[in-house]
Amino acid sequence: MIEDHKNRKDGDLKDEDFVDILLSLKKDAGLDFNLNDEHIKALLVDMFAAGTDTSYIVLEWGMAELIRNPNVMKKLRDEINGIASGKSMVNEDDLSEMHYLKAVVKEILRLHPPAPLLLPRESMDNYQIEGYKIPSQCRVIINCWAITRDHKEWDMPNEFIPERFVNNTMDFKGQDFKYIPFGSGRRICPGIGFAISTIELALANLVFKFEWKLPDDHVGEVNMAEAPGLTTKMMKNLCLVPMPCF
Ligand code: HEM
Repeated sequence: MIEDHKNRKDGDLKDEDFVDILLSLKKDAGLDFNLNDEHIKALLVDMFAAGTDTSYIVLEWGMAELIRNPNVMKKLRDEINGIASGKSMVNEDDLSEMHYLKAVVKEILRLHPPAPLLLPRESMDNYQIEGYKIPSQCRVIINCWAITRDHKEWDMPNEFIPERFVNNTMDFKGQDFKYIPFGSGRRICPGIGFAISTIELALANLVFKFEWKLPDDHVGEVNMAEAPGLTTKMMKNLCLVPMPCF
């Protein structure tokens, strides 16, 4: 891919992408390090690793919550149909008007942060925080999952209630410390904008294009158990049956 991009002619650069930008940085004399092809490869792998798992995990938990909460599914469908009616697909321009969709995505990220322990950090010095001594070079792990389910901070924290984010300025940009699914500070996820628009667009179209139901042979509640891992997938993959809305 890198070679293909290097061989592109200037005329092909209308659709400049991430690889083009990294290659242009290689030529940037202002950088205080030499960016080589190995670095570019590593960055691309990093993007795939950090960007694919996380986004699909949010969609899968999201569909599970919607199927368990038909009132939310209905309210979301009504909003999407109202804005995108007559179109074949929801497109990115429609998303800015879909306020309930945004609240639904925020609530999915609150209950099911795909990276529940963020990424490990190391303390740079000796610190004391609320009586706890944190020595220098100590590995620090932040339990975002526990923070977003803390009864002291959230009403009915284990319930899926997107309304808590309606007319609420709380955001995931790392300033509201009780809600940090993308982390915070200098190591905050650089993919927030891309992740949110991808997830909103995919979820909106899944709801717009299909009615969803559990398979006929499904017995009992949807299994909401979490599988262990750096990212938190569903223990048992969600299986739903789509029925086109025509
Ligand atoms: C819902 C989707 C996503 C979630 C919840 C998420 C969450 C996170 C979290 C919690 C971190 C660690 C931040 C910290 O420790 O403070 C992180 C780092 C990172 N994310 Fe995301 N992410 C998502 C999607 C993406 C996407 C789509 C991309 C790129 C296309 C991406 C690229 C990265 C990269 C490169 C890092 C490492 C940053 C660094 O350590 O300097 N992420 N992400």
